[in-house]
Amino acid sequence: MIRRKNIIKIAIDSPAAAGAGTIAKAISKHYNLLQVDTGKIYRIIALYKTKYPNKFTLNFLKKKINKLAIRDLNNIELLSDDIGNTAARIAKKKSIRKLVHNFQKNLAYNPPKKYSGSCLDGRDITYNIVPDADFKFFITASIKTRAMRRYNELRKLKKNITYKEVLKSIKNRDKSDFNRKISPLKKTEDSLLISTTNLTKRACFLKIKKIIDRKLIINGNI
Ligand code: C5P
Repeated sequence: MIRRKNIIKIAIDSPAAAGAGTIAKAISKHYNLLQVDTGKIYRIIALYKTKYPNKFTLNFLKKKINKLAIRDLNNIELLSDDIGNTAARIAKKKSIRKLVHNFQKNLAYNPPKKYSGSCLDGRDITYNIVPDADFKFFITASIKTRAMRRYNELRKLKKNITYKEVLKSIKNRDKSDFNRKISPLKKTEDSLLISTTNLTKRACFLKIKKIIDRKLIINGNI
């Protein structure tokens, strides 16, 4: 695997709907980083499973992943709650995780030249995919805040779902993501904890930017 030198690598882990994606987007834009929402990779596999139930083998997936481009992850179909739940079930499988491991590592360590680095968010990024990241964050929020944010997102997309259903599904997802045997979600000792419960998007961005700038200035990067 090619590893570009002198790039900024940011790794974020977070439970569902904690706001990590929104923060990652703002931070990536500010520092010109390739942003990868790795949950979308598991979601696209979930979509393949739903769309092609009879073809869904490891070989089929291997071919699909080989052809996968970052822009494919913008597919609006990936945002549904059902796809999220299927993704969480699929993500427990060692064979599936192995298949997407190198795809994620390549993006993190060898982003296209136009970027100054990469910012990945997911569940096992800080300790599995980018263990030597320059910055590691564990972003979370209270379960009710997360459920309300996801509920509002889904309503905006005209999805027919109640707050109660969203809350239940987030609880189930947490249970599965935190407790699974392979690559569970956890806060590593070297990750900074950021709770977004009482923070606006802007406040969150500024908090993280301050942390990043401080280290970049010390290291003489800016
Ligand atoms: O972040 P998002 O809700 O899109 O992720 C969907 C599911 O994919 C998660 O609930 C989790 O089970 C799985 N996932 C994972 N490892 C990652 C990213 C997501 O297991 N790095």
